[in-house]
Amino acid sequence: MKLLFTPGKIGNMEIKNRFVRSATGESLAAADGQVTDALVSRYTELAKGGVGLIVTGVAFVHESGRSGYKMPGLHKDEMIPGWQRLIKQAHNYGAKIVPQIFHCGRQMQADSAQDFPPIAPSPIAYKRTGITPREMTDEQIWELIEAFGEAARRAREAGFDGVQLHGAHGYLISQFLSPYSNRRTDQWGGSFENRQRLVTEVYKRIRQVAGQDYPLFIKMNIDDYVEGGLTLEETRKTARLLSDLGMDAIEISGGTLELSIWKCLVPGIKSREQEAYFLPYAPEIKSEIRCPLILVGGMRTPALMEEILQQKKADFISLCRPFIREPDLVNKIEQGQEDPVTCISCNKCLRFLDRGLACYVDAEA
Ligand SMILES: Cc1cc2nc3c(=O)[nH]c(=O)nc-3n(C[C@H](O)[C@H](O)[C@H](O)COP(=O)(O)O)c2cc1C
Repeated sequence: MKLLFTPGKIGNMEIKNRFVRSATGESLAAADGQVTDALVSRYTELAKGGVGLIVTGVAFVHESGRSGYKMPGLHKDEMIPGWQRLIKQAHNYGAKIVPQIFHCGRQMQADSAQDFPPIAPSPIAYKRTGITPREMTDEQIWELIEAFGEAARRAREAGFDGVQLHGAHGYLISQFLSPYSNRRTDQWGGSFENRQRLVTEVYKRIRQVAGQDYPLFIKMNIDDYVEGGLTLEETRKTARLLSDLGMDAIEISGGTLELSIWKCLVPGIKSREQEAYFLPYAPEIKSEIRCPLILVGGMRTPALMEEILQQKKADFISLCRPFIREPDLVNKIEQGQEDPVTCISCNKCLRFLDRGLACYVDAEA
């Protein structure tokens, strides 16, 4: 397991090993978006467990962008002290930590939609709720770009080691990128260049506000798996554009919450053949970019993770569900424990998310 435990870099952020905790929404924040003791202890456990880089669950940048309750925010300066407590714990145990900043756009749960009618690039009903979002005005789009910049400024002030943009899974940034959800005919929609404009402007604003040297990277879809949505042919070009722009790393994922979430969260991974389901896309994206590639999706065997690094198909190995069950997984791998990953990818963690994030396999048994 030599390479897995070699330090790596994302921009100027030095990470002690090649393990990333992929963004995982815990549904453990307070109703106003504040960090709670439960969140602080969750991140303390993760950092103690040896992971090099922790990406937090989605943190909304604007009130209109919270998809559901119990989600933490980076939308106000009042949020900074809560995050500082959590970051301090991660740093105490040698982990680096970044927030995943996001706006949900049209993918908003029905209860939140009552308080903040959803906004999106185009007025296309969200199939999970039947609610049609309002088309964003030019002014609202610029306000949102500013909100991303401000959230990144707060992240830096709080002491986060960088930020990750959520540009995947059908949330606002990916809604602008995808021709399925972006049917605009102004400068924000239509051509490939116009659909990239939002993410490009968000990138530029964050650089201006948080600094050129502040590590900034993105999670993006390589395929929406939706008719009329993004496919590899175009996402390769997006990856190149983002890398040329100066993005410090790209994490690749796929699927949208609305229509194809099981492509992101493949259930029942039992054999090596089912593992690493986005791996076939990695070389395609890697050949387009100059920054590190972070691979997520169904990796469960340390030997395979090591092989992926050896073959230079990815630079970092990102996991989500295994850490819900075993926050100390990286320590177990480092100690050479045989078959350390006991997550069976049953997705009960998602099904019972309203009770707060946990592995419900043993609880049910
Ligand atoms: C409970 C739960 C919450 C998640 N929350 C997020 C999130 O906030 N942001 C995100 O980009 N992906 C989220 N994901 C997706 C994971 O980051 C990851 O891409 C996916 O689970 C595949 O990796 P895995 O096979 O290692 O679990 C979540 C997944 C689960 C199971």
